[in-house]
Amino acid sequence: MATLEAIEEAKKQREYIQKIKEIITAQDAKRKKPLTACVVTFGCQMNARDSEKIVGVLTEAGYEIIEDEEQADFIIFNTCSIRENANTRLYGHLGNLKKFKRKNPDMRIGLCGCMMQEPHVVEKIKKSYPHVDLIFGTHNLYQFAQVLYESLLSDELVIELMDKNPLIVEDLPSVRKFPFKSGVNITFGCNNFCTFCIVPHVRGREHSREPRDIVNEIRALVKDGVKEVMLLGQNVNSYGNDFKDGFSFADLLREVDQIEGLERIRYMSPHPKDFTREVLEVMRDSKKICHQIHMPLQSGSTSLLKRMNRVYSKEQYLEVVRMIREILPDVSLTTDIIVGFPGETEEDFEDTCDVVREARYDAAYTFIYSPRVGTPAAKFPDQVPADVSKRRFDYLLHLIQTISAKESLRFVGTTQKVLVESVSEQDETLLTGRLDSNLLVHFKGDRSLIGSMVNVTLKESKGFYYFGEIEA
Ligand code: SAH
Ligand code: SF4
Ligand code: F3S
Repeated sequence: MATLEAIEEAKKQREYIQKIKEIITAQDAKRKKPLTACVVTFGCQMNARDSEKIVGVLTEAGYEIIEDEEQADFIIFNTCSIRENANTRLYGHLGNLKKFKRKNPDMRIGLCGCMMQEPHVVEKIKKSYPHVDLIFGTHNLYQFAQVLYESLLSDELVIELMDKNPLIVEDLPSVRKFPFKSGVNITFGCNNFCTFCIVPHVRGREHSREPRDIVNEIRALVKDGVKEVMLLGQNVNSYGNDFKDGFSFADLLREVDQIEGLERIRYMSPHPKDFTREVLEVMRDSKKICHQIHMPLQSGSTSLLKRMNRVYSKEQYLEVVRMIREILPDVSLTTDIIVGFPGETEEDFEDTCDVVREARYDAAYTFIYSPRVGTPAAKFPDQVPADVSKRRFDYLLHLIQTISAKESLRFVGTTQKVLVESVSEQDETLLTGRLDSNLLVHFKGDRSLIGSMVNVTLKESKGFYYFGEIEA
């Protein structure tokens, strides 16, 4: 259960939302048009979920939410610092907004998310982007209403940053992007300190949400029309390690599985070192937990994995893959891989390709190593030259695409449950839905089906998506 402090905090933030509402209502009346807000999200599912909470506060405070940042009166960038190009994208947006802010004196710009937990980033913003009005970090997302209120009363930059905060504040508003599916946080932060990764530095130590709070949230979501949940954490299968009462990720899955009306459960991301047979057995015995596993490899070289602090060897990783395929023969397996980690030799890279050939991923996301300030690997000697990384990256991409195109054929001809998500972006006459494997399928059907589960026979594979026919 939430602590007394957390309950008090939620109450306080709701009071701030009301105070903002008073200001917004007065301004709307004066301007004779509603103030608009736009939330721009970079990064992972965790940030996407955080943005839904930000939109929740803004909506309740009376802003009209719009998509076009250049037209908005309040723009908030929820930032990501996982790789340098994520940072660069933010600076591009900020530079572009300068001229729009000159034209619209009501315009306010806010920044939050992982980049804001990096002191050198905040220094750069203060120096080079003086048109930013407010900054807050990942540990005080729940204080967003308070920070916004303070900013509305001030012409100065308002900064609210904390190093850490173990407080989990429940029951604040959120507005979902999709009515029929939702992310649900189960852990916050990460304790693994992979040597390349900024996440533990910007998201703090791992702490698990109480099972009862998670189950209650999902029950409420189901009541509100949600059919599918994605349990979110940087390392979901170490869920519960901080409880000390033995309640594990497998136990949580069992509880979530029993929620009536919920149709699909996914989770992301598990760490290979924490995979248990028990979790796989719960998945096998459940009708709701998707047989889809995203299990980051990072590298197939045991010596590189050691320097990455991943705590498994090439053989141990492959052993986990074998266990997964033994218990869940129809699993869809995906991964993340980094190429060009400091000191990566041709031999190391060959090891990675070996694992890819053996694991036969349905999809793999490959990244060129990007040094992050403050992480150990950024200071490692033998940084790999860009042209070498690029060559390996291209080779690996081709290898993965060849394998996953072949793998996707194994589902052609099968009839599968599909959650209908939208009208197809490419072809208005088609609907787009998501398979158990999380891949997309396009098929003819009436748009009234959006948000419901239907049976679709997969007719043709296009590698990353399918064309299918809905069952009559
Ligand atoms: N918690 C997840 C990963 C989150 S970050 C996990 O451990 O599985 C998502 C992916 O970004 C990582 O899996 C990794 O492949 C990639 N990544 C992280 N830091 C990186 C860096 N410095 N350079 C390149 N890719 C990186
Ligand atoms: Fe980063 Fe490793 Fe934690 Fe994943 S497990 S978030 S890669 S430190
Ligand atoms: Fe990026 Fe932060 Fe997620 S660094 S990947 S948004 S946890």
